[in-house]
Amino acid sequence: MSSSFVSQPVPGKYILVTGGAGFIGSHTVLQLCRNGHDVVVVDNLCNSVEDSVKRVEIITGKKVPFYLCDVRNKEDLTKVFDKYDFWAVIHFAGLKSVAESFKIPDVYMQNNTEATRILVDCMMEHDVHNIVFSSSATLYGYGRGKDLLTEDCNIEPINPYGESKYKAEQIITEKMKSFEKGQACFLRYFNPIGADVTGLIGENPKDIPNNLIPYITQTLVGRREILSVFGNDYNTPDGTCVRDYIHITDLADGHLAALEKLRENEVNRNGASAPIDDRTLIYNMGNGNGFSVLEIVAAMSKAAGKQVPYKIAERRRGDVDRLVASSAKANKELKWFTKYNIEQMCADAWRWQSTNPEGYDNPSEYILNLLADYEKKNASKKE
Ligand SMILES: NC(=O)c1ccc[n+]([C@@H]2O[C@H](COP(=O)([O-])OP(=O)(O)OC[C@H]3O[C@@H](n4cnc5c(N)ncnc54)[C@H](O)[C@@H]3O)[C@@H](O)[C@H]2O)c1
Repeated sequence: MSSSFVSQPVPGKYILVTGGAGFIGSHTVLQLCRNGHDVVVVDNLCNSVEDSVKRVEIITGKKVPFYLCDVRNKEDLTKVFDKYDFWAVIHFAGLKSVAESFKIPDVYMQNNTEATRILVDCMMEHDVHNIVFSSSATLYGYGRGKDLLTEDCNIEPINPYGESKYKAEQIITEKMKSFEKGQACFLRYFNPIGADVTGLIGENPKDIPNNLIPYITQTLVGRREILSVFGNDYNTPDGTCVRDYIHITDLADGHLAALEKLRENEVNRNGASAPIDDRTLIYNMGNGNGFSVLEIVAAMSKAAGKQVPYKIAERRRGDVDRLVASSAKANKELKWFTKYNIEQMCADAWRWQSTNPEGYDNPSEYILNLLADYEKKNASKKE
């Protein structure tokens, strides 16, 4: 399967992807390339390696210029903006650990919020009007009173990570007020998991994983001893936290859908100005189904054909009972729908980790051969 969402490139224009070497970034770059977009990646590699982008190039046969660049560094960022004619920016670069954000809230504010201000300043100085921003379901805090969270739910971040993301949304909105043709799309992600169906790119955090699936898959390949399930006394059927899991390729396609929406709006307005509410769009990106941690442990054990070892541990600060999305607004307005179920998500996560036990390091003969096959196929297409 190449891509489920069809998106038209803007002729002669590039898409800038910040944090494009990371988990969601690399899968989105892959889907953009599969749709013929010209993409440039900037990343400081604090939680990723450049090999993810190199593998995207091999899979698609498309060149993806990569710049080792920190989004907080305006001088470096400006050089990249000077070099390319961008139509839009997809801004993934950021830190994402709730636990870490309690320890170093200032770093989160710098990296997630102030960096966004710098990025939007660069966009404005270079007349780049469109931004898709990685926001998060964590903005909904405890998600009180709603079975399915809609975009108009109360915003009440309960951790510094959530605050840094909400402030970034606010900064973008504020800047767009004085940037006449500027448009933003905030995508509030729930829990992306899985990997591209090729098994050649996947989730590869540098340190101990903060997210459930890479912790599980790393445990299954022997890199971690045992999974800690944080708390089994939540107000959920089995006592463990319930979350909405979305396949990474569905989420990547959500970004293509967001770009299409921004472009459609731009064309429809035909240069006319529009109120700020029409230029700052918000969409949840989730699946609409809740799974508990223990249900995920069972699904991953089934996908891998072996039991995930786990123990029950203390609750983690900042965790909530249940966060499940309503993506009805994105379904309706972006014509974007998820395609993958939990079995496929777990199977794809396992394909990635089992064939790349060390992530992008020390690729096996099998992976090297697979990459060589893609290179051959793409070379013969060009002849
Ligand atoms: N994965 C999730 O569960 C989730 C959920 C909601 C929101 N998000 C947001 O989505 C975005 C991408 O998440 P991900 O899961 O792909 O994480 P990731 O860590 O794999 O990717 C983030 C990328 O940004 C880079 N980066 C970080 N700070 C940077 C900086 N200052 N300058 C340049 N590059 C920088 C990292 O090296 C990494 O490649 C993040 O902003 C995150 O907050 C993620």
